[in-house]
Amino acid sequence: MEKIFAAITGVAGFVPDYVLTNKELETMVETNDEWIVARTGIKERRILKGEGTGTSHMAIPAVLDLLAKTNTKPEDVDLLICCTTTPDFVFPATGNLISAGTGLVNAFSYDLQAACSGFLFGLTTGAQFIESGRYKKVIVVGADKMSSIIDYTDRATCIIFGDAAAAVMLEPSADLGIIDFKHRTDAIGLPYLQMKAGGSRRPPSHETVDARHHVVYQEGAVVFKHAVTNMGEIAAELMARNNLPKEDLNWLVPHQANNRIIEATANRVGISLDKVTVNIQKYGNTTNATIPLCLWEFEKQFKKGDNLILTAFGGGFTWGAIYLKWAYDAQ
Ligand code: UT7
Repeated sequence: MEKIFAAITGVAGFVPDYVLTNKELETMVETNDEWIVARTGIKERRILKGEGTGTSHMAIPAVLDLLAKTNTKPEDVDLLICCTTTPDFVFPATGNLISAGTGLVNAFSYDLQAACSGFLFGLTTGAQFIESGRYKKVIVVGADKMSSIIDYTDRATCIIFGDAAAAVMLEPSADLGIIDFKHRTDAIGLPYLQMKAGGSRRPPSHETVDARHHVVYQEGAVVFKHAVTNMGEIAAELMARNNLPKEDLNWLVPHQANNRIIEATANRVGISLDKVTVNIQKYGNTTNATIPLCLWEFEKQFKKGDNLILTAFGGGFTWGAIYLKWAYDAQ
């Protein structure tokens, strides 16, 4: 039997209107534009405003745009995987709400949680359903309303994160699409990047709220050290095992957490920065949305057949890389 590849056949994104600039952050915490730009590369990020709005309110317009761009009837979609760390509710899954909001009446949907590596893990998971021959159209969404779990009195974390959503369509292809992946997890990361309460170990209480334990806790320097080596290493390993020399790599699509991590990863795989998708300056770290948001913004620059390496690192720790051949030339 001929091998079936899972190809990305379309991509769409959504960013909220509100722009939170470094200047505005200067009025909220002891920081300054120069420090933020020098240490992270971030100039501004988007924030989803509005009482009662959640991650699905960004994911739904992204998926609707994806359906329109790919000329897909909602009823033809088989599966939607929502990769998020900030679901609308603990349950039911945000994927259910996205499917309902976009008319995916014949699809089933679920959420996948792997912090900043979530979209990579979700893309790999969605690809299995295509490669097995079981399904023809799978949507993978990466979406996070990070502002809902950020402490805007903690200058070390509030400067980094932003809100966004982006989605890709996966369909069968005879020769283009996902070629290989390598993913890892290691619970050594637990103390350094987590939300301390709100889960089953420490359910919400007055004490956990008073202690600010429902927000992102990050020991940035430790996370940085692990991210800076692991992203580059896993991407390089994947290239080596697929006999992909750096000269044949057309694009590196890294998770957007810190410009210095992006540059170190590019150096490790040996690609020049003009072949690296970077939009961290505009959106900051949108967790599950960073990689599809890059695909969305750089879609027109990719050529059919281009070799792309996607790579991410995040809480858990989780990290990984995907090697894929881009499947279309955007109009
Ligand atoms: O996406 C998931 C994975 N997450 C990441 O990959 C994030 C990885 N970590 C990072 O990107 C960086 O560690 C940060 C951007 C979070 C922090 O940058 P850093 O260069 O590692 O700073 P640091 O935490 O080591 O702090 C250095 C100094 C400290 O001051 P002292 O103790 O040296 O006086 C901090 O208090 O910088 C200070 N600082 C700030 N100063 C101005 C921390 N945040 C700020 C700030 N403005 N916003």
